[in-house]
Formats: sequence, structure tokens, C-alpha cells
Amino acid sequence: MGEHITEKAPAKLNLSLDVLGRLEGGYHALRMVMESVSFGDTLEITLRKDGEIRLETGLAWLPRDGRNLAVEAARVFREALGEETLGADILLTKRIPVGAGMGGGSADAAAVLRGLNRLTGRPFDGEKLRELGLAIGSDVPYCVCGGSRLAEGRGEVLSPLPMPPECRVVIAKPSFSISTASLFARIDGRAGRTRPDTAGMIGAMEQGDLGGVARRMFNVFEDVLPRSCRDVGAVRSALLDHGALGAVMTGTGSAVFGLFAGDGEAQKAAVALRSLCRDVTVTEFAGEIEV
Ligand code: C5P
Repeated sequence: MGEHITEKAPAKLNLSLDVLGRLEGGYHALRMVMESVSFGDTLEITLRKDGEIRLETGLAWLPRDGRNLAVEAARVFREALGEETLGADILLTKRIPVGAGMGGGSADAAAVLRGLNRLTGRPFDGEKLRELGLAIGSDVPYCVCGGSRLAEGRGEVLSPLPMPPECRVVIAKPSFSISTASLFARIDGRAGRTRPDTAGMIGAMEQGDLGGVARRMFNVFEDVLPRSCRDVGAVRSALLDHGALGAVMTGTGSAVFGLFAGDGEAQKAAVALRSLCRDVTVTEFAGEIEV
């Protein structure tokens, strides 16, 4: 049983996102094709034996109390283990932009669950960690294992998918952030919306057809964005103009990403996108995370 561990927290992207209807408790039934990328945060976790949970980050504006999902995850883990004296020092190196739809807070929470589980001799299996994650947020169960998954229900019903075909991913985040709850509210009552072809997307992934995947990238939230979020469309157009095979907003935004067949094109597009957005990253899809 070690005392210290470094855990990566990969960002997530939605290749497609569909809202199927409303669930009880204010949530919505979703169907999402989710992918992890190599880009993400890093958390250094050290066990404490006094029950204290402390978070350090280089960013002064980031909450360091229970509002930060990494702290909440440590609290949830301590409670599940039933050991009041279990605590942690967490040093968070934040790279995933906040309010981007890239699951940054959820990825950090999942990393804390995995890290504390390892540091305490793996008392819980992946399924239990995902269950603990759902109490923290809808994207946390996915972030516990990451990789290529179909996520349904609130986001916690996960089925494995083949990895998308090899490609480069350029992510660009406009300077504004979008409130998740407000976008969910805007989608209610919008029946007859255009829907993503999720089955077709999965078929294209099975066939290793990058063009087929790119063509089917679709997020229903893009259709209900307020006028103040017009930059999302501008960033998507810029990605396509610079050679992306497909581009889409991830989650409830505001980040948009595009798929590129080669690194050269991706790097060139990233240079061009930097005149529109400060936050531009070139990365690639990454596989499952070991629990
Ligand atoms: O679960 P989480 O705290 O991440 O969700 C944030 C908000 O997003 C919820 O309060 C709800 O408004 C919305 N949401 C939803 N249906 C989901 C997931 C999130 O309506 N499946």
C-alpha cells in the first residue's frame, strides 16, 4: 500500500450527443458516443491519516472546497470506505478548460476515486467506483474507465465501443462558457429536433471508416444555443475550412473539436484557430484507463 500516486485525468469528448427525453429528478435520458483523449489534467495524491482533504492548484480562482469535484470525490470515497481518518493532499495540475464540455471536473473526480482506491489496496472494483462516481456527477462513471463508450441513461449506462479510426483531434474553446443546466432547460419541449445517427456512427467505428465517423458527428445542443454563443458555429466552420473531416461541439460546450486525417493538417488548422480562440489543443483519442 503506497502513500503517494500520480493519476492522469483525461479530458472527454462527445463524438455524438442525443437527448432522448426527461427522467425523474430533473435529469435527462442521453445517448452519447464518448471518447477520451491524451490531453488532460494531472493529480498527485498523497494519503493523510487525519481525515483532512486538502486541494492545491496553481489557479487561484478554482474552488478548493467541496464545490471542487476532486474534493467531493475524496469525501465520497472516505465515506464509502467508512474510515474517518482517511484523508488526502491533492495537487491538481489543471489543463482542461472549465465550462468547455470536456468533463474536466468529472475527470478530476474520477482520478481521485481511482487514485485513492489504489492507495488503499483496491477495496473497490471498477463497477463500485462508477457507482460512487454517479453520486458526484453524471459524467464521472464514464470518466472512471474512459475509452470508447456508448453512454446512456443519465450517462452511467456504459457499453464498450471500438476505438475510432486513427486521426488527430483539434480542440478549440471559445472564450465564453455555457451553463449545462441552462442548455438542458432550452432543449426541453423542442420535439422533432434533428437527431444524430448513433447506430450509423457505431457502424462506421466498427468499419474503421474515419470519413463515416466524421460525417455523423452531431450534438443536439448545438441547435438550441442562445445567440450569444454564435462563436461555436464560427469555430466549427473554421475547423472545417481548415481541413477537418468533421467538427462538433462537445457536451454542453463551449469547446468544439475537429477530426483530421494527418498531423500536418491538424497543426496548420490549430495555428489558424488560434486567431479565433486562445485555448487550442492538438491531441488524439486514447484508450481505456486501468482502474
Ligand atoms: O450530474 P451533473 O451534476 O453533472 O449534472 C449537471 C446538470 O446537468 C443537472 O443538474 C441537470 O440540469 C443536467 N443534466 C441532465 N441530465 C443528465 C445529466 C445532466 O439534465 N443526464
